[in-house]
Amino acid sequence: IAAFYEAFHDKAVENKSIDLRALIEVTEARQEQFGHYQCNAAMKLTKQLDMPPLDIALAIKSKLEEKLYPHGLFGRIEVAKPGFINLSLSTEFLTQTLEHLQTDPRLGVAAIEKAQRVVVDFSSPNIAKEMHVGHLRSTILGDALSRLLSFLGYDVLRLNHLGDWGTQFGMLIAYIQLQIPDLKADTPLSLSLTQLVDWYRAAKQRFDADANFKQQAQKAVVALQRGDPFSLAVWTQICMISSQAYEEIYRLFSVELINRGESFYKPMLSAVVEDCKAAGLLKKSEGAQCLFLPGFVNREGEPLPLMIQKSDGGYNYATTDLAAIKQRVKTEHADWIIYVTDAGQAQHFDMVFQAARAIGYLPDSVKVSHVPFGLVLRADGKKFKTREGDTEKLVDLLTVAIEKAKTALQSRNPELSGELLDETATALGINAVKYSDLSCHRASNYVFNYDKMLQFEGNTAAFLSYAVVRIRSIYRKAGAQWSALSKTDAIQLKEPAELSLALLLCQFEDVLDQTARELMPHVLTDYLFRLAEKFHRFFHDCRVEGSEYQNSRLLL
Ligand code: ARG
Repeated sequence: IAAFYEAFHDKAVENKSIDLRALIEVTEARQEQFGHYQCNAAMKLTKQLDMPPLDIALAIKSKLEEKLYPHGLFGRIEVAKPGFINLSLSTEFLTQTLEHLQTDPRLGVAAIEKAQRVVVDFSSPNIAKEMHVGHLRSTILGDALSRLLSFLGYDVLRLNHLGDWGTQFGMLIAYIQLQIPDLKADTPLSLSLTQLVDWYRAAKQRFDADANFKQQAQKAVVALQRGDPFSLAVWTQICMISSQAYEEIYRLFSVELINRGESFYKPMLSAVVEDCKAAGLLKKSEGAQCLFLPGFVNREGEPLPLMIQKSDGGYNYATTDLAAIKQRVKTEHADWIIYVTDAGQAQHFDMVFQAARAIGYLPDSVKVSHVPFGLVLRADGKKFKTREGDTEKLVDLLTVAIEKAKTALQSRNPELSGELLDETATALGINAVKYSDLSCHRASNYVFNYDKMLQFEGNTAAFLSYAVVRIRSIYRKAGAQWSALSKTDAIQLKEPAELSLALLLCQFEDVLDQTARELMPHVLTDYLFRLAEKFHRFFHDCRVEGSEYQNSRLLL
């Protein structure tokens, strides 16, 4: 950009309408033989500068040479018809950067200057229900983004916004009392989540069919809301049983989360209504307290309400989210709040964010992002459902993935058995599921395909693991030489495969930045896939052991 400004200073000043900055873009070269990067701005500027693109490109080239060659950044600057500028970094620059990466525990990635607090709200299944594939995506994406932001220097608070409060729990408690008539506050409930889910379903049916039970259920709701100790004790156990089942999945995926469900915000809900009232935003609509925010209309074009208190006095999903924003800003001192949920909740978050700004909960200095994702589909393109019409259980999907990983491993290596086989299959199965989720563009729907995710070729966990295994085996074989590598040994980039591997390694920081800016984990997995490919090519083309460049290649 500086070179463009210098070369065309007069013209740019004369013609104030030219915004060079917006028109100049440097992207990665599409084909390796053209160099590392390309800039096509000369073509875009032809009209504004009233010059043929080739002349523009040549002018830039000479400015770049004059200004930048002395710093040794570029090795090659070439102009191709009709006005492409192809740029390659110099080998010295790549070598120096690699040497820095090698000694830097942060791999050349600078931490953000001032630590900022980020709340990442993810996973968030609903108590007394099974976690489903949608929650799986939220868990995997939310965890990956949290890890990335922590690495970049953010102070990350990972919150599991469990759906653990609502009138349905009164009904469930009433049903449990029917099943276990002598239930006391301190009776331990030895139920599995599956049983709990079954009872929950049965309770709903009974509620609709049996007036007597309906009355009992309504009483139980009132008791729970009043904070009756017996009801609270049963409710606590319901939450514990559910959380334990979720923990199993978090353990498999090595995900850490703080459970802070909707119930946490209960004492703060009435204040939300008060605050809305004070801000002059509250309107009654069909008995319910609502906010009408500019820009939100329903299909008929009528104003769309954001409901925060039902006509019976109960509160809504949005009320809790507003209370949570207030608490996260005031008490947690969040600078940024990120929500990872399915794309279906996009409008809910748009409205909640706008409402929070209007009420004064969300100062301009605090950023909020909804990170939406698409549906998970079965291999046949349909949504995941079991026979009963219920969404498939997540644990079952993972068990199948691990089983299939075992079969794939055994067919490749019949000698593998026992504990090692089990451990490897678990790692491969879980990583395959995790990686396939991360590697597809999160906004699109993705097809859950065991066979594809367990392939050893292509953009898969197994392919990446294979590169790691190869690197480890080099380490093992070269163990002695490795420790003997002296400080004076240096990387010498000679072969094309070495140079292209080096270039990619030097781009790590850019890739992390882009991933964090767009909150798009596939940007990182695409990079890792290309890195694994480049590594395999390097390994294929360049002998390490016993070669004249052995030490350089070990370092690389
Ligand atoms: N429990 C919700 C669900 O299963 C997700 C909650 C997302 N987080 C939030 N703060 N609303 O759809």
